[in-house]
Amino acid sequence: MRRRFFLAGSTTAAALASFPVIQAETGGNFIQFPRNFIWGVASSAFQIEGGLNTDGRGVGIWDDVVADNSSITAEPAADHYGRWQDDIGLLEKLGVNAYRFSIAWPRVIPEGVGHVNPLGLAFYDRLVDRLLEAGITPILCLHHWDLPKPLQDNGGWRNRDIVANFIQYATVVADRLGDRVRHWIAINEAYSIAYGGYGIGFWPPFIRNEKAYFAAAHHLNLAQGAVFKALASRGREFGTAMVLNPVRASTPALEDIGAAQFHHAMSIKLFLDPLTRGRYPDVIEEHVAPFIHGKDLNTIQHSVDFIGMNYYEPEYRRSVSGAPFGTEGTLPSDFPTTDSGALIEPGGLYQQLVELREHYGNPPIYITENGAAFRDLPDASLRVHDSKRIAFLRDHLIAAHRAISDGVNLRGYFVWTFLDSFEWRLGFSARFGLVFVDVANGKRAPKSSFDWYAEVVRSNRVRA
Ligand code: GCO
Repeated sequence: MRRRFFLAGSTTAAALASFPVIQAETGGNFIQFPRNFIWGVASSAFQIEGGLNTDGRGVGIWDDVVADNSSITAEPAADHYGRWQDDIGLLEKLGVNAYRFSIAWPRVIPEGVGHVNPLGLAFYDRLVDRLLEAGITPILCLHHWDLPKPLQDNGGWRNRDIVANFIQYATVVADRLGDRVRHWIAINEAYSIAYGGYGIGFWPPFIRNEKAYFAAAHHLNLAQGAVFKALASRGREFGTAMVLNPVRASTPALEDIGAAQFHHAMSIKLFLDPLTRGRYPDVIEEHVAPFIHGKDLNTIQHSVDFIGMNYYEPEYRRSVSGAPFGTEGTLPSDFPTTDSGALIEPGGLYQQLVELREHYGNPPIYITENGAAFRDLPDASLRVHDSKRIAFLRDHLIAAHRAISDGVNLRGYFVWTFLDSFEWRLGFSARFGLVFVDVANGKRAPKSSFDWYAEVVRSNRVRA
C-alpha cells in the first residue's frame, strides 16, 4: 500500500545448500524449504498497540494523523497494548519461530531525549519474556516511524542532532532487553521515512523538498551505523529492514530507463551502498555531500549479520520534468493488484533477491516483510475466507524458493502482518493481517490464511 501512496504523491506533483527442490506427495507437489529456515510474522508498535495515552507514553508524529476518508486514528488500533498476552497465545498457535516487532520510542523516552519512562520499558520487558517462554525468537526493531514529536519539532531526521538522540534511546533499550534479545534492526525502511516524510510530503512531517530528503536519508544512515557501533560490543546480530522493491522503467525510452536508474540509486543504493561499501553511489554523491561530516561514512559502514528485505511490488518509473526528483511512478496494467492497489508480481521478489546476490556479495537475507491487503470480512461464524491472501503468500514463497535454488542466501520469511493493523494513511481500510481485528471491540478472528501459514510453518513446505 505504501507504494501506491508514493505513486499518488508523485503524480500529483509532485544457506542452506542441499534440499530437495520439489517433492511429489499425494495430492500435489510440495516445495520443501531448507532445514532451519525461519518462519515469522512482523508487526510495528504504532500500527497495533493503541494505548497512546497510557502509562506515560509521550506524543509521536503519527498520533494525530487521521486515516484518509475516515475519522480513524491509531487509537485503539488493534489494542495490542491491552491484549498482548492473548496475542502471544495466537503466535504460539501459529507456531512461528520468530516475531518481528518494534519498540515505540515515545513510550520509552516520552520527550524523545532525556527522561526514561519505566512503565514503557516494562511493557517490552514483559513482552520479550513471554515470547521467549513461548519459544519464539524476538526480532526487535528500534524505530518503525513513530518519532517522538519533540524531536520532530527540532527538525526530526533533517537535523543531525537526532543521531545522538537515537543512540541514547537505543542504549536504554539495549541495557534493558539486551540480555535476552539477540536480533536487532535499527530502523524500518529508512527510504520510506525520508521519501514519504521529507521528499514528497505524503506523511509526517509532510515536507516536500529534495534537499530535505537527502539530509534525512543521510542522517538515517548515520543513526543506524552509529547505533550498530554503540551496541556492537555486546555480541548481538544486527540487520536492516529496507524496502527493496526492484525498480523498472515504465517504457523502453532512454529517458525512462534513466529515470528508473536514478530512482533505483536514490531508493536502494543510497541506503545499501554506504552500509555495505562505505560510499554513496556516484549519482547520489553531490546530493548528500553537503550533509556529510568528517568520518560519517566510516560510521555508516558496518558488517551486518543479515539484510532484511521488505518486498511488496516492483516499482515502475518514468521521467517527468518538474516532478519531485524528475521521475514519477506509473501503474502498468500487466499485473493484478491487491485491494490497496499494489501490483501482484512475485517475479519482483525473485529479481530483487538475485540483485542482492549479484551486487552485494550474497549476504544472509531475511524477507522481513511481504504480504497483501485484501478486504475480506468475517462470515456469520466469524470465519474470514481470505483465499487471495493465501494465493499471494504461496506464490511469493514459490518465488523465494526459486531464488534459494539459484543460490540466494535466504534464511527466513516474515509475513506482513500478524494482526490487521492501522495501515498509516489507509487506517483499517487496508487489512494485511493473518488475524482479523474488529476495531470496535478488539475481538480477534484468525483468517483462513492463519491456518494455511501455520501448516506451512509446521511442515516447512508449500504446496506448489
Ligand atoms: C511498510 C511498513 C509497514 C506497512 C506495510 C504495508 O513497509 O510500509 O513497514 O508498516 O504497514 O509495508 O504497507
